[in-house]
Amino acid sequence: MTRRDHHGGDIYAAARDLSCSPSRLIDFSASINPLGPSKRVLRAVAKALPLTCHYPDPTCHDLVTTLASSWKLDPVHFLIGNGSSELIHLLPRALMIRHALILGPTFSEYERAVANAKGRVTYLHATRKDGYRIPVTQAITALRTNRNRFDALFLCNPNSPTGQVASSQDVLDLAGMAARRKVWVVVDESFAEYCEGHSVLGSVARAPRLMVVRSFTKFYALPGLRIGYLVGPLKAVARIRQFQAPWSVNTLAQAAAQAALEDRRHAQRSLSFMHRERTRLAKALSVIPGLHIFPAAANFLLVELPAPLEASHVTQALHQQSLLIRDCSSIPGLNGRTIRIAVRTTTENRRLVGALSRIVKGRSSINRV
Ligand SMILES: Cc1ncc(COP(=O)(O)O)c(C=O)c1O
Repeated sequence: MTRRDHHGGDIYAAARDLSCSPSRLIDFSASINPLGPSKRVLRAVAKALPLTCHYPDPTCHDLVTTLASSWKLDPVHFLIGNGSSELIHLLPRALMIRHALILGPTFSEYERAVANAKGRVTYLHATRKDGYRIPVTQAITALRTNRNRFDALFLCNPNSPTGQVASSQDVLDLAGMAARRKVWVVVDESFAEYCEGHSVLGSVARAPRLMVVRSFTKFYALPGLRIGYLVGPLKAVARIRQFQAPWSVNTLAQAAAQAALEDRRHAQRSLSFMHRERTRLAKALSVIPGLHIFPAAANFLLVELPAPLEASHVTQALHQQSLLIRDCSSIPGLNGRTIRIAVRTTTENRRLVGALSRIVKGRSSINRV
């Protein structure tokens, strides 16, 4: 695996490295709801356990029905996947994407998925000067002439790792221009539960080239079960389904996702907690001299360290203290002083702020590698 392919959340590798149990680590490198999955989800998983001696429902019928009714869309628009990653990887193969425009800096799997399908990518990066605002207007301009013959555009909204969010109207304007140029627009809404007002999912039936990808990993805190979904035009969804391996979504994941959607109280609690704690953490970090904290719409913060500190060294120093953060220096479009920090519980966040503060003030050693 190259550095560029690296993702957050590999607690197993970190535990091996530190010769400790994964439960000793505090993982700020993957952005997962710090309240964890709801109790209702855990009960549903326990109840579904005896069904593991049967194949899972290959159509995910119950989950699709629940999703379709909550979004007021026909079930034919939905496809469930083994995490949103599976769907992101199926898309370019099924739609035969040759040249994709990616609005960066962003999640690396769009590039990998297009490359694996023998397509190529071009990045249109948000700039530091612009606070990493998602460059939707520039993308509309690029598609207007479509001199580069793009056949797809990938956009993450809210975007990881920058935390920026584009308005639903801007994304729909982009999708409108893309449809006129016969360009697919894939909107990754893996973190959209934190800002539903910006979602375009409800508009897929009216937007002929729009695909939305969602995940149960982040807000519903189920990364280990692997489940996500895609919503798009009927024919395209049917084609992507043909490329999917049978039974790729297991019984426990289906039961968990269904229960997660039904637990509105846990969802409300998670949202209020995040709004409160994200503000608190951002404030505590902003007191550390030289740290720049970008505004954030999801459950993580993009942070720039003061020179001459480097993200890789600081990440390593925190790692030695069992605190995992995401070093963003290898993400195209970000500089070598950029890190991403997930918002976790109040006590855990305090511990991170203390450790980071000691490093920045030079009171904690950094072993340069
Ligand atoms: C923006 C974004 N999209 C998609 C994924 C993949 O999530 P999953 O495959 O767990 O649904 C991730 C995971 O880190 C992500 O950050």
